This record gives sequence, C-alpha cells and structure tokens, in this order.
Amino acid sequence: MRRPVRIAVTGAAGAICYNLLFKIAAGEMMGRDQPVILQLIEIPDAMEALRGLAMELEDCAYPLLHTITLHDNVEDGFSNCHYALLVGARPRGPGMERSDLLEVNAEIFARQGKALNDFANRDVKVLVTGNPANTNALIASRNAPKLSPSQFTCLTRLDHNRAKGMLASQCGVTARDIQNIIIWGNHSPTQYPDLHHARVFGRPAMGQIDTSWYRNEFIPRVQERGSEIIKARGLSSAASAAQAIVDQMHNWTQGTEPGEIVSMGILSDGSYGIEKGVFFSFPVRCNYGRYQIVHGLDINDFSRKHLTATELELLEEKAIVEHLLPKDTEESHNN
Ligand code: NAI
Repeated sequence: MRRPVRIAVTGAAGAICYNLLFKIAAGEMMGRDQPVILQLIEIPDAMEALRGLAMELEDCAYPLLHTITLHDNVEDGFSNCHYALLVGARPRGPGMERSDLLEVNAEIFARQGKALNDFANRDVKVLVTGNPANTNALIASRNAPKLSPSQFTCLTRLDHNRAKGMLASQCGVTARDIQNIIIWGNHSPTQYPDLHHARVFGRPAMGQIDTSWYRNEFIPRVQERGSEIIKARGLSSAASAAQAIVDQMHNWTQGTEPGEIVSMGILSDGSYGIEKGVFFSFPVRCNYGRYQIVHGLDINDFSRKHLTATELELLEEKAIVEHLLPKDTEESHNN
C-alpha cells in the first residue's frame, strides 16, 4: 500500500465540499490505490457542521480514507499538506460592490498564501476554487514567496466541462467524442470558450456546427451558465464544481491523455500576448505532475477580441487589490 497523501480543503462544510470530499475519499481524484488524509478547514462557526460531515465520511468506510482531521484555522490545517484545495471564500453580501468582494477575499487568500508558505509541504499543489478564483490565486501565490507560482492554479475546468457538455449535446455525441475545447481567461462572464481547435470525432468542430450558433448562443450560454443554474435551482453549481476540481487535480497529478488539451487557470508567462502576472486560463497538457501551455495555436481576430476583453478584466481586478499584494517575487522563481 502507498503512503497516504495529505489533502487540505477549505470551506469543507460548504455545498461543493459535500460532493467533493466523498469523491476524493473514494479515490476519484488521486487514483484508486492512493490512500488519503483529509485535513478539513472551516471558519469557527461552521465547525459543528464540519463534525457532522466527518461522521458521514467515516460512515462510508472508504478503504482509501486513512484519517480525517478538523481545523478552524489554516495554519494548522495546511500543516505538511501535499495538496491544498482552497474552496471556501466570502460570498457577495447585500450591498457589497465587486471591489469590496475582491478586497475581503484578498485578506482571506493572503492569510492562506502565508500559511501555505510556512506550513505546507514544499511541493504542495494548490487549486483555488473560491471566487473570484483567478485573482484569489494571484493573491495566495504572491503571499507564498517560498513556493513557485507554478504550484498554484485556479479552477476553470468547470467552464471547460460545461462547454464540452453543451457541444456534445448540440452534436448529438457524448463528451468522450470531443477533444481540445479551450477556455481562455477569467472564471467570469468575460471568459472565452474557444471551439476553433476543438474536435468532434477527430474532425474540426467548427466544420460541424453553425458559426452563428457558436457566436450567438454557445459562447454567452457557457459564460452565463453559473447564473442560469442559480436561476433554475435556487442554488449555485456544487456537484459539477466538485467534479471539475477532481478532473483538474487528476490531470495535473496524473497527466492528460496523449494529445489532449485541457483548460487551467495559471500565472501568465506572456504566452499568446497575455500580460504577465495575472492568473489566466490557458490550454495546457500535463505530464509527470506538471502542466505546460500548448503553444502555436492560431488566434483569429474574433478570438483575439475575446482574449483581450477577459485579460482587461483580470488586469482591472489586479489593480483593485494591488495595494494588498506583496512585492512581486515571481521573476526570482518563475516556472
Ligand atoms: P458555500 O457557501 O456552500 O460554502 C463555502 C464554505 O466556505 C462555507 O462553509 C464557509 O463557512 C466556508 N468559508 C468561508 N470563508 C472561509 C475561510 N476563510 N476559511 C475556511 N472556510 C471558509 O459555497 P460553495 O457553493 O461550496 O462554493 C464555494 C466557493 O466556490 C464560492 O466562492 C463559489 O463562488 C466558488 N465557486 C467557484 C467555481 C469555479 O469554477 N471557480 C464554481 C462554483 C463555485
């Protein structure tokens, strides 16, 4: 039996984690032969709910679930963790402006970045889900100078999976028959779901769909899918977000299929003309626990317009929290 890995999860008593933690314990994320230790973190007010969740996890008697520990602070919760899933975040309250939301979360993610820096395993891999995910990832990584920014990603896999599901439904195929969807940019309505490199049954997707459907229906629907679900369910996406976290971490740690492209929010290194220093969703392939941007894809004028719009939004978000960012050390240890 392999040695267990330590997985720290914030927001553990929330809706996403009520799906996510059972998947992890069942071996869906790290593999069916990898025991896990779950280090679950919540705010003090949610510790009782977290205790109930831990009981349920125990009651599933998962063969791969080694230990569960509960924490009301990130400094203990991140101790020696190999993976950190930052799911918890402050939601937007009544009368709160977008800039207030960015600032309040900036404080939370700054503290989490520092705690990862001081207490996590040196090779920790961090996935930020809590919104605004891209900018929260930037804040956490900038507060962890001992860790490489390449150890941080943010979740855009849900958008990727949504796009794949919608295209599959439109073409009357299953998601397995579709490859190389790309989500560019921010996990927000400015994201750009790009089908110009996608394939359906191995053939170019754009040759099999109507351009006007793609531009006028598909793109806005993927961009606004989160709101569409809230409107229908009265609750935000939780199970699909949990699946996306599992998929992104699974690819990052165990690799992507040969030739397959997936989307991941990572620190821009200037590829495709995107300004350095923002977390931006790029097309990547993963191997041996590392991701690499897929270079050389053709960007037409339509795509460039969308890439620029989402880049500008991320630069604006960064400007709002700039005063809370420690000095940029990325050049000293960039990937
Ligand atoms: P939720 O409100 O059900 O749960 C969030 C949990 O986080 C709560 O239990 C809360 O007590 C906890 N929490 C808040 N601040 C914390 C802190 N500083 N440390 C530890 N725990 C903390 O929300 P849900 O549905 O689970 O979503 C979580 C986050 O994920 C939200 O920010 C949501 O907007 C975001 N999200 C992101 C997606 C993406 O694709 N990037 C997709 C879906 C949701």
